[in-house]
Amino acid sequence: MKRIYLDNSASTRTDLRVVEAMLPYFSEFYGNASSLHGFGREVKEVMASSRAKIASVIGAKPQEIVFTSSGTESNNFALKGIAFANREKGNHIIVSAIEHDSVIGPCEWLRGQGFAVTYLPVDEDGLIDINDLKKVIRKETIIVSVMNANNEIGTIEPISEVGKICRARGIYFHSDACQSFGRIPIDVNEQCLDLLTINAHKIYGPKGIGALFIREGTKIMPWQQGGGHEMGLRSATENIPAIVGFAKAAELCVQEMVVEARRELRLREKIIDAVLNDYSFAYLNGHRDRRLPNNISFGFAGLEGDAIRLLLELDEMGIAVSSGSACSSNGGGHKTSHVLSAIGLDPVRARGALRISLGRFNTEDEVNVFLYKLSQVLGCLKPLTSVY
Ligand SMILES: Cc1ncc(COP(=O)(O)O)c(C=O)c1O
Repeated sequence: MKRIYLDNSASTRTDLRVVEAMLPYFSEFYGNASSLHGFGREVKEVMASSRAKIASVIGAKPQEIVFTSSGTESNNFALKGIAFANREKGNHIIVSAIEHDSVIGPCEWLRGQGFAVTYLPVDEDGLIDINDLKKVIRKETIIVSVMNANNEIGTIEPISEVGKICRARGIYFHSDACQSFGRIPIDVNEQCLDLLTINAHKIYGPKGIGALFIREGTKIMPWQQGGGHEMGLRSATENIPAIVGFAKAAELCVQEMVVEARRELRLREKIIDAVLNDYSFAYLNGHRDRRLPNNISFGFAGLEGDAIRLLLELDEMGIAVSSGSACSSNGGGHKTSHVLSAIGLDPVRARGALRISLGRFNTEDEVNVFLYKLSQVLGCLKPLTSVY
């Protein structure tokens, strides 16, 4: 059975062009970038050009890119690093209610360290309200963090507007762009961003590598001490093959973004139209248009309790989709989604999403097979929904 992967928001297949770019840096050019000899110098050079490539994709300067191990680490670094470096200015942090756990986790930890956290509500589409933001800003506010686009429901947030408000008030603005980087244009200057989290494994690059854009002049406390790597901001021997792969993946995404986004959008619309037309009990989570070109999140009224069953039955048929975010199923349990709760779904509905996330390697044929197999699964479960 040919398997079909429709969970590209969780992770993507590494593009073979990326693998090819990485290969020489395992056993041919394997020096430590901090070494003074030729082995070190040659990888230091490739690290510099990779940093410059990634910086150029978001309109940053090379020295504003700090490599990390992941999106999770970048989010932790941004929030904790700003909080501790700016403690004398204030102790208030604002984040949206639908942030990824790797933003919410550090915020909750910071609360335990004496910081105050305000969670900005979102509307039924998952959008924050700029006026709400203005209302909750205090003189003690040191950082606002609003994700570029949500990982569960795909809604794209009004980043430039948030950026302008923060800039005018002298508050640092951070955004988690793990889902949007490489899929939609990002410009740290136009969007007034001070910090931006990105990673490689969502854009057909390797796992275990991320970066944090930190605008020059930003007061941030290094979170990992040691040999002073990464301009003294993140000590650890740099992962050169992964950095090379990250840069190659980012470069390919930019080159192919316009055509690929249009292609994914067409497939996305085909799935949304087919499912909403064919099943009266289906509904779409997230904004109808202001969403990532590759994201679809459905709820099926009356079948919320069966969301995992739906997922597992599709899996048996060779189709990989998600029930929300990959992280929400860590630890073996399946919890209510804080994102679906924040858009106003009741606790039953907030347990039952089916996320289909498209990617570079998905074809129209695969979409057709998915729609057919979904009809088979829903056909069996449908009688249960007759009361809805
Ligand atoms: C929005 C968002 N932020 C952060 C992360 C974490 O990134 P990583 O898997 O590189 O730690 C993810 C990954 O699921 C994500 O979707």
